Amino acid sequence: MKKIVVLTGAGISAESGIRTFRDSDGLWEEHRVEDVATFEAWQRNQALVIDFYNQRRKQLYEVKPNAGHLALTELEKKYDVHVITQNVDDLHERAGSTNVMHLHGELKKVRSTIDETLIYTLDGWELKKGDLCEKGTQLRPHIVWFGEAVPMIDPAIELAAEADIFIVIGTSLNVYPAASLVYYVKGNTPVYLIDPKAEMLSGVKNLTVFRETAGEGVPKLVKQLMEDDG
Ligand code: OAD
Repeated sequence: MKKIVVLTGAGISAESGIRTFRDSDGLWEEHRVEDVATFEAWQRNQALVIDFYNQRRKQLYEVKPNAGHLALTELEKKYDVHVITQNVDDLHERAGSTNVMHLHGELKKVRSTIDETLIYTLDGWELKKGDLCEKGTQLRPHIVWFGEAVPMIDPAIELAAEADIFIVIGTSLNVYPAASLVYYVKGNTPVYLIDPKAEMLSGVKNLTVFRETAGEGVPKLVKQLMEDDG
């Protein structure tokens, strides 16, 4: 079975109603990264950071997977599919994708501030100040903030290097190390890029660009890959 590795970003969830970060109506237009998405922000104002992620988590209960998430699950009938997502939503899982790796954490999870191995699934959308881990410290969102290490990057690089087909969907490729994954694919591997604002990726040889939304482009590419011989 050929291995397909898919790297997704906020754009794949846009048609579900979740705002991206860097588009003109993106989240970072309204909130400063330094205020809500760094460990320093957490130290400075826990209430603000908790509220920012509570709002995101609350919304997650109101949205559903779209045609892009759903089409990817179809590929599993013929390929060994691994999704590496920068998204903290759970829409790939809810669509039915089997292998989903979250590079930047998961909104529905929280973790201890003193022991990062203590990770819990939050009951409902609201994390409160005063919610403690079993070691007695405040629980924080299970999110990889700017400036923090990305624990899953090594297994993600390994997957990228093993890919027979690599697909990139809905990411501005602004944030590293996630953006570097495409450079770990083997030289002859077909790479597909689906994003209405996609640009050519310099140094990627076998590249096909779909300048379309995920809801349009992913079902089209999936149909094509399901009809291929491999
Ligand atoms: P960005 O907001 O940087 O980029 C979103 C991309 O999605 C852009 O390239 C858009 O053109 C594209 N897009 C918009 N609508 C789309 C649609 N309907 N279909 C397909 N593509 C669409 O989001 P990311 O690249 O995911 O990290 O951002 C990477 C990381 O930066 C995030 O994981 C987050 C953020 O700060 C953390 O918070 C740690």
